[in-house]
Amino acid sequence: MILTIRDLHAAIDGTAILKGVNLEIPAGEMHVIMGPNGSGKSTLSNVLMGHPDYTVTGGDILLNGQSILNWSTDERARSGMFLSFQHPAAIPGVSVNNLMRNVMQNMRGAEMPLREFRQELNRVMDHLGMDRRFAARYVNDGFSGGEKKRNELLQMMMMQPKLAILDEIDSGLDIDALRTIASGVEEMRNPQRCMLLITHYKRLLEHMTIDRVHVFVDGRIVASGGLEVADRLEQEGYESMRASHVS
Ligand SMILES: Nc1ncnc2c1ncn2[C@@H]1O[C@H](COP(=O)(O)OP(=O)(O)OP(=O)(O)O)[C@@H](O)[C@H]1O
Ligand SMILES: [Mg+2]
Repeated sequence: MILTIRDLHAAIDGTAILKGVNLEIPAGEMHVIMGPNGSGKSTLSNVLMGHPDYTVTGGDILLNGQSILNWSTDERARSGMFLSFQHPAAIPGVSVNNLMRNVMQNMRGAEMPLREFRQELNRVMDHLGMDRRFAARYVNDGFSGGEKKRNELLQMMMMQPKLAILDEIDSGLDIDALRTIASGVEEMRNPQRCMLLITHYKRLLEHMTIDRVHVFVDGRIVASGGLEVADRLEQEGYESMRASHVS
């Protein structure tokens, strides 16, 4: 099991947001979390990456069977965890090119030959339909919503993480971009990797192979199943899920 989340509770400024999350993702699988606004999905992503604003008040997070609760965000990233942000921040002064060079060097613990780096960066940018000129631009500075999402995926595809958490990678994308992003994510599937996709819409899922869908309401998973769960949500909304959780 790459990721195991056991009865995870977390709070911010004393307010409980995660209220007993249980989730297991084996290697090779792509899992999806769907849930209403404010239910705690991004909080879960941030807590998984060790964001310092959140306090874990109970439970555990295991990576390959080992608890990572005491690990810094940096250690988590080095061990192969990756988070694509719902709202990626701009980093004026740092170009995409420089960020990626630094990231790759940090991940490998050694400098990546420039030629090899360039080739890989170009390949991934082409795959994502990104203009190569973006490499020289400051990270997310003045990027459109869709360009920011592509830039998040660029980082994932360069880093080749073992566990990728994609928080609303599809929000704000036009129809063509949705296909490009879906195929980028799909290309990342491999037997050694697992992915957790957070989304509000079924349309992204239609372009990829999904192993499990989890419904997240009020800080915990209330239902899990196959793609039919997403169909049911689309038709009935979250109210039915809330009700079935209460009863
Ligand atoms: N830094 C913070 N300070 C105060 N409250 C916070 C903070 N971060 C998150 N919250 C609260 O935690 C709750 C969960 O937020 P979160 O962003 O995890 O929801 P979400 O499920 O990702 O929603 P969305 O679908 O809109 O992205 C919200 O009520 C939010 O206001
Ligand atoms: Mg969110």
